[in-house]
Amino acid sequence: MAKRYVLVCRGPTCKAQGSLEVREYLRKLVSESGRCDVLVLPYTCFDLCGRGPNAVVYPEGVWYEALRVEDVPDLARHALGGPPAGHLLAEVDADHAKQCYAIFEEAIPELEAQAEREAKKRPVDGLFGLRSLFGKRT
Ligand code: FES
Repeated sequence: MAKRYVLVCRGPTCKAQGSLEVREYLRKLVSESGRCDVLVLPYTCFDLCGRGPNAVVYPEGVWYEALRVEDVPDLARHALGGPPAGHLLAEVDADHAKQCYAIFEEAIPELEAQAEREAKKRPVDGLFGLRSLFGKRT
C-alpha cells in the first residue's frame, strides 16, 4: 500500500471540466519522480462537482478544487512532499471530509489494485514508469 494517495474525481461533471487530463498529467509527474510511495487514483465523485475537478491528498486530508492542467505541477509538488499549493486549496466541510475518509479506507485497496492493472496495460513512461510498475511500494 502506498503511503500517500492523491484521489482525483472522475464523475461526468468534473470529467467534462478536465479531471481526466488533470489526473493523467499528475500520474505522469509522480511516475517521473520515481517515488513509489505516492499513488494517483481515480475516484468516482466527492460530491463536490460544482467546484471541480477536485482532488484530495490522503491521508493528509488536503483538498483541492477547480483544478486545471496548468495547476498540476503545484499539486504534484505537494503530493511528493512539498508544501500544499495554497492558491488551489478547497474548504471542505469537516463532516463531509470524514465521511469521505471512511469510504476511502474501504475503497483504496480495490482502487489501488485497479490502478496497478491499468498501469500494466499502459505504455511505460520511460525508466521511471518502469520503476513505478515494478518498484517495491513502502
Ligand atoms: S465528479 Fe468531481 S466531485 Fe463529483
